[in-house]
Amino acid sequence: MSSALRYRFGDHDSEVRFSATVDSAFISSDSGALVVFDRNTAQLPIFEDEGQRLVLAPGESSKSWSGARRILQRALDGGLGRDGLIAGVGGGVVCDLAAFSASLFMRGCRLILVPTSLLAMVDAAIGGKTAINLGGYKNMAGTFYPAERIWINVSLLRHLPVREFDSGMGEVIKTALLGDRELLDILLKQSSRVTGRDPEVMEEIVRRCVAVKAGIVEGDPREAGNRAVLNLGHTFGHALEAETGYKLCSHGEAVAWGLMQAAVLSRALGLADPGYTATVRELLETYGFAPRFDGKPESIVKAMQVDKKKRRGKLRLVLQRGIGDTVLREVDPHLIVETLQDSARIFP
Ligand SMILES: NC(=O)c1ccc[n+]([C@@H]2O[C@H](COP(=O)([O-])OP(=O)(O)OC[C@H]3O[C@@H](n4cnc5c(N)ncnc54)[C@H](O)[C@@H]3O)[C@@H](O)[C@H]2O)c1
Repeated sequence: MSSALRYRFGDHDSEVRFSATVDSAFISSDSGALVVFDRNTAQLPIFEDEGQRLVLAPGESSKSWSGARRILQRALDGGLGRDGLIAGVGGGVVCDLAAFSASLFMRGCRLILVPTSLLAMVDAAIGGKTAINLGGYKNMAGTFYPAERIWINVSLLRHLPVREFDSGMGEVIKTALLGDRELLDILLKQSSRVTGRDPEVMEEIVRRCVAVKAGIVEGDPREAGNRAVLNLGHTFGHALEAETGYKLCSHGEAVAWGLMQAAVLSRALGLADPGYTATVRELLETYGFAPRFDGKPESIVKAMQVDKKKRRGKLRLVLQRGIGDTVLREVDPHLIVETLQDSARIFP
C-alpha cells in the first residue's frame, strides 16, 4: 500500500511517500537522471533498472567537496539538463551529499531522496538541509534545498547494521520527547516489535517522526528560530563525540547520553520535575542506552564551547519543561560542569 504526506519547506513542496515498491516513473526524467548510492545501499533491493548510477564509498569521507565534484561531473558527463534529476539512495551521508550537489547543478536541478537508514528516514532526508564536511568539521558548507519527493520503504531497515539502527533510535527517542506522546507510548509499550524492526510499527514510528520534524521545519525552514529545538540532546552529544575522538560511542549513544544530560540540567534549573527525568531515563534504558562518560566534565563543556552554537560566552542549550515543552536557554558553563558531576553520581 502506498500513501503520501505533503509538506512545504520555504518555497519548496516536498512529498513523502511510504511504499514497499518504487514506481519507475519516480526516478525518471526527460532531462536525464543520475542515481547516487554508496557501496552498501547499492546492494539493496530497490530499483530494477535505475539508469545512470554513481556508487560512492560509504561513510563521512564521501561527504566532501570531492564527493560533490564527482556527482556534478557525472551529471554533466551524463548529459543531465536543467530539469534533470539527481536521486540519493542511502543514509544521511548520501542524502546530504546528493542534495548538496543537486542544489548546485545548473543552479539547482530536481532532487529525490530514498533514505535507507533509520536516521535518514526520520531526520536527514526531511527538511531540506544539505551539507558537506569541511576542514575536519562536520556540515560546515551547505545549502537549504528540500527534495521534491522522498520515498520511504521501512522494510529496508532489516538490512541495517545494529549500530546504525541504534543511531536512528536516538533520534526517534528525541522526537518522542519533542512532542509526540503516542510515539512515546509506542516506544515504551512495543519495544520488542521496535527492536525486531517490525515493518508495521516501524512505519508508524517513521511517519510520526517525519510529521514532528516536518511540522517544526515548516514553521522555520531556514533555522532562524524554533528549528533549533531539533538539537535537543545534540550539543551535549556532539561534545561527547568530539571529546572521545568519535570512538567511545556511536552517534546514537552520544545523542542518548546528551538527552539524559539535557534532562538532568532541565531538572537542575527547576524547569522540569523528577517525573520527566525518570521518563527520559526509562525510554533510554528500554532501548539499551546506558551511555557512560568517565572523562572530565570540564572537557565536555570546553568541547561544547567550540560548538558553532556558542553565544556571547554562554552556551545556548535546548532544554525541556516536560515532554513536548521545549525551551532554549543560555546556561552558565559552571552550572553545566556541576550538572555533569551530579549526573555521573546519579546515573553511574
Ligand atoms: N540534513 C540533515 O538534516 C541531517 C540530519 C541528521 C543527520 N544528518 C547527517 O546524516 C549523516 C549520518 O547519517 P547515517 O547515520 O544514515 O549514516 P550513513 O549515511 O553513513 O549510513 C550509515 C551506514 O549504514 C549503511 N546503510 C544505510 N542504509 C542501509 C540499509 N538499509 N542496509 C544496510 N546498510 C545501510 C551505509 O552504507 C553506511 O555504511 C551525518 O553525516 C549527519 O551529519 C543530516
